[in-house]
This record gives sequence, C-alpha cells and structure tokens, in this order.
Amino acid sequence: MLDVKKIQNVDLDYLTHIISTDEYDEEIFRTADEIRRKYVGDEVYLRAIIEFSNYCSQHCLYCGLRAENKNLTRYRMSVEEIVARAKLIAQMGIKTVVLQSGEDPYYTTEMMCDIIKQIKELDVAITLSIGERTFEEYRIWKELGADRYLMRHETASPELYAKLHPGDTFENRKAHLYEIKRLGYETGAGFMVGLPGQTPYDLALDLAFLKEIDADMIGIGPYIPNPDTPLKDANGGDLKTTLRMVALARIVVPTANIPATTALGSINPYGRQYGLKYGANVIMPNLTPNPYRPNYSLYPGKICLFEKDTACVECTKAMIKSVGLTVGEGFGSRKRIDEIF
Ligand code: 5AD
Ligand code: FES
Repeated sequence: MLDVKKIQNVDLDYLTHIISTDEYDEEIFRTADEIRRKYVGDEVYLRAIIEFSNYCSQHCLYCGLRAENKNLTRYRMSVEEIVARAKLIAQMGIKTVVLQSGEDPYYTTEMMCDIIKQIKELDVAITLSIGERTFEEYRIWKELGADRYLMRHETASPELYAKLHPGDTFENRKAHLYEIKRLGYETGAGFMVGLPGQTPYDLALDLAFLKEIDADMIGIGPYIPNPDTPLKDANGGDLKTTLRMVALARIVVPTANIPATTALGSINPYGRQYGLKYGANVIMPNLTPNPYRPNYSLYPGKICLFEKDTACVECTKAMIKSVGLTVGEGFGSRKRIDEIF
C-alpha cells in the first residue's frame, strides 16, 4: 500500500522507489485527486498568459528561446500592446494575467513598473514570469502590486542544473526563489520531467525542494526535445511519469496551485485533462496575440498555435467541465490552511 506519510515527509529513498515504477500509479493518482478535492476543491482557475517577448539572453540547453538559436523570428510587444491584451483578458472575466518572456533586459525596471501599474488598475492579479532579475527589481515590482512570481527551478539536482545552464548554478536559482518568497510574492517553482541524465532520485529532490520552499504554485511538464537546441537528440519525458510527478507534487504540497501545463497537453491530446484528474487545479489559456504566438517556441508541437487569438479561453473552460470540475471565480490565490478547516 502507498505510504502517504512517507511521501509527505519527502523520504527520498521511498520517493525514488515509487517514482521508478508504475506499480503505485493507481494509488498515487487516486490519492492526489482526493487531496486536491479536500484542500483546493473542484474549482479550476484560469490564468491568462501573455508571452510578450521571445528574446532571451540565457543559454539553457533545452530551450528554443536560448540566445544562440538563430532559427527563431524574435518579437517584442510594446507596453501599449501588452496593456491592451491585459484589458481584453480582464474584459473576458479572467482574474489573473501572467506576463511571461525570455530573460529580456530590453524591458527596463521602469517599463515593467509602467506595465504593472496599468494592469493593476484592471483589478486582476499579476503574475510575473520573466526569469531572474535583480533583488531590487523584485522588491519594487512587489510594492507596485505584482502578486505572484513564477520561476521554475527546472531541476533540483545541482549537477544536472549546472550542465543544462552554462555558467549558472542551482544555488543561485534557489537564492532568487527564496528572495521572491521573502518579499511576499506567491512563489512558483517547478521542473521538467525526462531531462537527459535525470534520475528518479533527481525527481525526488525536485519534490523535496517544492516542500522546502513551500511552493505556492508548481509547474511541471515533460521535457520535449527541441531540434534547434544542443539537446535535439535526447529523449523527451513521457506522459505517465509526468502525471506521476504532478500527482506526487499535490500530495507533497496539498494547498499549492498546480497547473495542467501546456507541455503536458502538447505530448498527448488529453494530457491536460489527465493533469486535472490527477491533482492539478489551474489551467493557463494562451492569450498571446497573433502574429507573435507561434514564435514563442520553447519546444516543437506546442499546442494552441494558429488558433483564433482568444480561442483558448472557451477551450479551457470546456475542458474543465468535461472532467467534472468547475471554472473558478475570483483570484484563486493560494488557500491558507485555516481557510480549509
Ligand atoms: N521542453 C519542455 N519544457 C521546456 N521549457 C523550456 N524549454 C522546454 C522544452 N524543450 C520550460 C521550462 C521553462 C518554461 C517556461 O518552459 O521549464 O521554465
Ligand atoms: Fe488553446 Fe485549447 S487551450 S486551443
């Protein structure tokens, strides 16, 4: 029988064992679904994502936006374009705007301030997902009203982290995430499953890190090899292992907001539906305007390209209903434990 206590205490030997086999899947999935219902309920929250720039100064070996990739048409949205999109999102009744980009220093501290101030007037929560910036910038943007910050830790194995991120360390990524948390942001971490060289023990470390930082939001997706990167010949992550990790993350951090990610939906047509069945409670419709959208190409086969600009909103709402859940209203901030019992 599955030992839920050992999972929640992040017993690394036990986690490594249950991650390495599909023997426990039925119990893991059922337990995650029960915990999701008990701690965060049946409401699934929509987070509209605007991918506003695909310029990136980083060199992550897995990512299509890496600075070295010349096979990508780069774009930047203007402050006005970004704010106009946020307005449309607010008008559609979605209460969270996620601003995502590559690490793009073109957007200065002041430009981000300008964007945040204008979007805050729309009465929506703002999630920043723009990579590592200075501690001073995190502080200023928080004071201006940014609510949440998403920055996956990518992998909690220091060796693997160093291999995938030339010149960077897991220690440094951790320091940024802890500072973001300390400033009072709802803080999002997360990782990819099936990275080249990643072991079940490494995935156990990922869960331990989520617990250690008490992640408010947890993004987990399969690694998908990108032909325009140095890792083009690697294998990608599989559906079952990724779902197992989503489910285990729900068990380890019961009140976290956990998206059924776009990457999950990109490796299987029902990937996100499975995610919602096995622990996820958030979905992130793509609201990046055309003609930019297809160029935010982290990995091949990304879904929702060439759709009508706003199609993902109706599509994700229908998806939520199709798995017997309801569309969340309100901000859907992380629930505190005293709101539950
Ligand atoms: N496959 C899957 N996910 C990827 N990401 C970047 N490149 C890939 C890829 N090839 C993920 C990273 C990043 C997020 C925005 O997208 O985890 O944090
Ligand atoms: Fe984008 Fe379905 S969520 S088309």
